[in-house]
Amino acid sequence: MTDTTSFPPLKNDLIIRAARGEKTERAPVWVMRQAGRYLPEFRAERVENDFFKICRTPELATKVTLQPIDRYDGLLDASIIFSDILVIPQAMGMTVEMVPGKGPHFPTPLVVPADMAVQLKEKVDVNQELQYVFDAITMTRHALNGRVPLIGFVGAPWTLMAYMIEGGGSKTLSKAKEWIFKHPKESHELLSRITDVCVDFLIGQVLAGAQMLQVFESWGGELGPHDFEHFSLPYLAQIVKRVKLELGEKAVPMAIFAKGSWYALEKLSLIGYETVSLDWTHTPESAKAITQGRVTLQGNMDPNVLYGGDEAIVAAATRMVRGFGSTRRYIANLGHGILPTVPVEAMELFLKTVHRVGLEVAAE
Ligand code: CP3
Repeated sequence: MTDTTSFPPLKNDLIIRAARGEKTERAPVWVMRQAGRYLPEFRAERVENDFFKICRTPELATKVTLQPIDRYDGLLDASIIFSDILVIPQAMGMTVEMVPGKGPHFPTPLVVPADMAVQLKEKVDVNQELQYVFDAITMTRHALNGRVPLIGFVGAPWTLMAYMIEGGGSKTLSKAKEWIFKHPKESHELLSRITDVCVDFLIGQVLAGAQMLQVFESWGGELGPHDFEHFSLPYLAQIVKRVKLELGEKAVPMAIFAKGSWYALEKLSLIGYETVSLDWTHTPESAKAITQGRVTLQGNMDPNVLYGGDEAIVAAATRMVRGFGSTRRYIANLGHGILPTVPVEAMELFLKTVHRVGLEVAAE
């Protein structure tokens, strides 16, 4: 489990090549939140074990990470380590619980800036606090046996700050926004402190065996263009720059997903990430025109199409793969995480359609 020097050779490197801008035989595909709630085998695991217990037990995290890879054998071109973006607030000293059916809950969120000194550790040693994620990554890399690459991830600083202040999900993010408007200096301090942990954590994940990285700015779109530029973008830029400075420019491809931040696509394609992940508010044509082949585009079917029945799934997946083009600078995915009540057959049809249309486009 601890051997990080001799992993089995990779048999499917489509996603890595797509991220690097190399030609691929077809568009690779994976799905955000592919390991989890919609899978009966995951729900069975959750009856036995608390969510964060699964995250903290490498054997269980490995098992759950592999569930979609086994179920959709040969159809997924990447795995993503089973964990959560909220392990960083935990590592910084906060308590986070996962309430079944409701989502994350912080019993004592940050209310005023002075709470930072009380609640957050001065220095966070990721090797101490998050070693369990590194162990899960190393164990999963061995268990995958080279079938597909393993993606590591973090939540982006603004999204994590928002959770730490809101204490859970929120419709308006009014508490987190009060901070950025009333306490901009302290907000930047918090964002910087989170950024430092994100950087160390991503580096540690690569050293443990992660072969690609994704940064989730899930609440990016809650900020308008001006505030995104001040409270999100600089930190996203710092993360990619510092990780690549430490590990080398070409060590692992990195992807950024800033949900809702359609207005920032051009800027996101210029800060060093090889891949920009898109939600469904973009057309392939406009996204390609804005990014000019500088980055690989990933996405972007509305996850709700998976509720629309076979015809709707085939039509939307076909339109997506044809629109983005299948053999260069494209990774197929949904435009956000797969939803908990999606039938497993709908996911299978989506994956099979992406494969079929990808090969058709490649042969044309
Ligand atoms: O399959 C994978 O993608 C790997 C694991 C993964 C989880 N969360 C597992 C999970 C990943 C990559 C995440 C990321 C994550 N977590 C994000 C960013 C992606 C996004 O969807 O925008 C966010 C915002 C979170 C925070 C979070 N975790 C919420 C809001 C919730 C509750 C709602 C929900 O999605 O279920 C979680 C819980 C969570 N994270 C579950 C899983 C499998 C379900 C928890 C349970 O079993 O009770």
